Amino acid sequence: MLTLTPVVCMLSGIAFSGLLDLFFKEDAIQRPEESEPEESSAVSSKLYDKAGRVPKMKHEQQPRETDPIGPNVRSIILVVIMLLLMLFAVHCTWVTSNAYSSPSVVLASYSADGSRQILDDFREAYFWLSQNTADHARVMSWWDYGYQIAGMANRTTLVDNNTWNNSHIALVGKAMSSNESAAYEIMTALDVDYVLVIFGGVIGYSGDDINKFLWMVRIAEGEHPKDIRESDYFTENGEFRVDSQGAPTLLNCLMYKLSYYRFGELKLDYRTAAGYDRTRNTVIGNKDFTLTYLEEAYTTEHWLVRIYRVKKPDEFNRPRIPVANRLVKSTSFSSKKNSKRKKGSIKNKPVVIKGKRLSKQS
Ligand SMILES: *[C@@H]1O[C@H](CO)[C@@H](O)[C@H](O)[C@H]1NC(C)=O
Ligand SMILES: *[C@@H]1O[C@H](CO)[C@@H](O)[C@H](O)[C@H]1NC(C)=O
Ligand SMILES: *[C@@H]1O[C@H](CO)[C@@H](O)[C@H](O)[C@H]1NC(C)=O
Ligand SMILES: *[C@@H]1O[C@H](CO)[C@@H](O)[C@H](O)[C@H]1NC(C)=O
Repeated sequence: MLTLTPVVCMLSGIAFSGLLDLFFKEDAIQRPEESEPEESSAVSSKLYDKAGRVPKMKHEQQPRETDPIGPNVRSIILVVIMLLLMLFAVHCTWVTSNAYSSPSVVLASYSADGSRQILDDFREAYFWLSQNTADHARVMSWWDYGYQIAGMANRTTLVDNNTWNNSHIALVGKAMSSNESAAYEIMTALDVDYVLVIFGGVIGYSGDDINKFLWMVRIAEGEHPKDIRESDYFTENGEFRVDSQGAPTLLNCLMYKLSYYRFGELKLDYRTAAGYDRTRNTVIGNKDFTLTYLEEAYTTEHWLVRIYRVKKPDEFNRPRIPVANRLVKSTSFSSKKNSKRKKGSIKNKPVVIKGKRLSKQS
């Protein structure tokens, strides 16, 4: 649509110019006739000399003076055109501020009372990524956000708009459509540190990853037809649904889990049940699940962007050790070191534990 705007503008410019030309020209033609009686009398006298008839000339002039439209109608038309042009200027300003210059990373929503709310979740998430992750962290997301992450968070992405090689995109699609354990294998093979998904269920944003999910499945199926089958993600009736009647493959795939992790506990408002997805207008089907291979790292204010950290192989299925317990362990560790040092296995190596430098004599 927007690419057509210049063409439409030029065409309407030509149309208006033609229209105004028409009305102003008639004015210009008429005025000399009305304001120069001498010339007309001279002409009439000439005609009188030749043809010998004055009345006929007056009759000829009569229809010219009363122009077919009438001055009132003409000025009304001119005012209407001016009003249209003024409205057009207002419209142009609106379009430019909304479509051309409104950055698509910042979303605006209108609440029921008409007030505007700015959703800055994308920038929030990218800023978090840039501040809280290692410089060389690799972020896996669907390719639509590849350039944004690279540009705004300065982190390496796996896939972006440079789609000339389909195999990486298909691999990311396969990871998103597989169950957690199968996805973990792909993610370790690709050296992924973080996974970023876009989830619109809380605010009703329809351009999120669940709505794009079938494309991921299709692209993955194109390259890996043995592992991914699009039909697995549909119900028997051929429906794509995320509620309790949805296909089990869908309810257990990585994209579903990353989008809906902890969402089952969330009650958006008193009218809806917990876990009600506003984008798809349904209560999600798989509410109680935990993540084994990933952990939630960050979720933005409106849950629009969710970032997960991929655990390292030594981290899963282990209870998290609270910081207090770690302190106890570090003391036993230091005594071990001392005994080892006495045996002479580690020499002249100062060990720093919790900011305390242990010298050899201690
Ligand atoms: C982006 O990250 C690299 C290191 O990964 C760093 O050298 C570079 O300065 C960063 N660029 C900006 C604009 O922060
Ligand atoms: C990348 O693709 C997305 C989705 O199609 C699009 O919104 C975005 O503008 C593209 N970015 C660039 C830099 O081409
Ligand atoms: C696309 O990427 C895959 C995986 O990195 C590679 O094996 C393949 O050769 C690439 N294709 C082309 C056309 O470069
Ligand atoms: C995950 O998917 C793989 C391959 O599709 C399958 O072999 C495995 O049994 C699945 N794991 C679970 C827990 O469903």
